[in-house]
This record gives sequence, structure tokens and C-alpha cells, in this order.
Amino acid sequence: MAQISTGNGGLVVVNLRSPGGFTAQVYTHGAHLTSWKTPSGEEQLFLSSQAVFSPPTAIRGGVPLCWPQFSDMGPCSAQHGFARNSEFRVVDAAAPDAVTMELAGTGTAPDFPHPFILRCRVTVGDGWLDQELTAINPEGASAPLRFTAALHTYFRLTHGVAGAAVRGLAGCAYLDNLQARRECTEGNEDVGFEVGEVDRIYCGAPDELAVVDGPRLLRISKSEFPDAVVWNPYIEKAAKMKDFGDDEWRDMVCVEVAAAGSGAVEVAPGAHWAGRQRLTLE
Ligand code: BG6
Repeated sequence: MAQISTGNGGLVVVNLRSPGGFTAQVYTHGAHLTSWKTPSGEEQLFLSSQAVFSPPTAIRGGVPLCWPQFSDMGPCSAQHGFARNSEFRVVDAAAPDAVTMELAGTGTAPDFPHPFILRCRVTVGDGWLDQELTAINPEGASAPLRFTAALHTYFRLTHGVAGAAVRGLAGCAYLDNLQARRECTEGNEDVGFEVGEVDRIYCGAPDELAVVDGPRLLRISKSEFPDAVVWNPYIEKAAKMKDFGDDEWRDMVCVEVAAAGSGAVEVAPGAHWAGRQRLTLE
């Protein structure tokens, strides 16, 4: 059984442990994964020192769930949708290494009038972490469930941003958020972050990507998420974000497996969609 305890801000957090001693923490607020550590205690995810643990504010760092909308790509008024601001219910914590949380909608939200069930399962293994996001359109619903989504993962850089890169995107088309989503093509095998903000939606991105952190390599394997978003706020944007330290852009990079630039996912009544990522430490 996973251990449930009181976390930051008095919020409910589920503590996971793999057979070999890797750990993870998932808050019921947003079904938000905030920590993933090796048995020796080395944190793999970035969590801002300024993060606010006070619902409905989303937690800055870890893995916010962007659903039913990535960015402004959908009908919701809130950037990245409402899942990251919502309280989830623990539906399965029977094993020590996994938890499933669920959010159900009745179709009464003014800017998202569709019934749905959103499920997130996190499993921690020896050297890997799995996250699965499932969206269900209930039987009897009157319309398809349409959404965009992302697992907005903040990776912690232990060797600083100068030695960091995202690998595996060469040749991939991307929408540059800093140029009104102009379509560009990635020319580099390693996308780096030293010279300015990077904010790109890679469309039809390869399923195998990696974060280079100095001599360390962290692999990302995705399925059913067609896209990948790469973001680092750099100096000016970091200074504008209230829940993010001015210098913390040096310690993180976001690589977000997403269904965004390639168009919305559509799920028929009675059907479901599931997207996954596996993070593996080399
Ligand atoms: C990224 C977007 O996914 O999230 C960026 O591409 C955005 O444009 C970033 O700045 C953080 O968003 P938020 O809403 O958590 O501040």
C-alpha cells in the first residue's frame, strides 16, 4: 500500500517507493507529481523554491497535468486547462509503488460543458517512472470529448543550463511560441538554452527523446502523445513569474509530451484515450 501523508501547505500527498528504493510523491491537488528520487536521495524533478501549495493555484514544478487544454489551444479560459488546479480523488493506492487518481466532470463547467473522467496513474520503478493519463468520454455522452493535453515535466538540471540540451528533435517541425507560432524546422540534434527563452511545440515529435544534463542522460519515451513542448523561460520571463525564483531558469528545463500542435484528441462517447511517458535514468 502507498503511504498517504500531509505534504506542503497541509495538502494530501501519496508517497511511492519502488522495490529498490526509488521514491516519488504525488499530490491529490492536480494529481501533481512533485518529486522523483533515486535511492540515494538525488531529486530528478525541478520544484521551484517559490512554488505555492494553496489550491487552486497550480504547483510550479514537478509535472502539472495540462488538460483539457494545452496553453490556449481549446475553449477554457484558464491557460493549460483546469486539471492542474483541481482536487483529484485517490482511486487506487493498494501497491507501494503506484497510485491512480481521478477527476470527474459532470459537464456543467461553463467553458468546458462535457462530462468526462480523467485518470492519472504514476508508477515508480527501479530507475524509471511511468505516468499514464487516461481521458474517458462516458457512455451516453451526447458529443465527442475534445481536448489538448500535456504532461508538463520540469526536469531538474544538476549540471546547470549551460551543459543541458534536449536530444532527438533534429529535422522535426515546430511552432515557435516566441514568433506567433511560426512554423520552423529544428536544425540541431541538441537543443540548448543558454542564449534566450525557448518555447516551442514540436509537432509529430519522435517517441524517444532525451534530456542531456552534463554527463547525465535522462530518457523520455512517449506513446499516443504526438507532440513535445520544450520550454525554458530564461532571464526576463523568470523575473515576471511570481512563483519562480529569478535564477531558477538555470536549474530546469521543461520537456512536455503533448497532444497540442498536431490538433485536438477526439474521443467518442463510451470510448477512451490513454497517453503515456516513461522516464528512465541512464
Ligand atoms: C509552457 C508554455 O508549456 O508552459 C509556455 O509553452 C508557458 O508558454 C509555460 O510560459 C508555463 O506556463 P504557466 O501557465 O504554468 O505559467
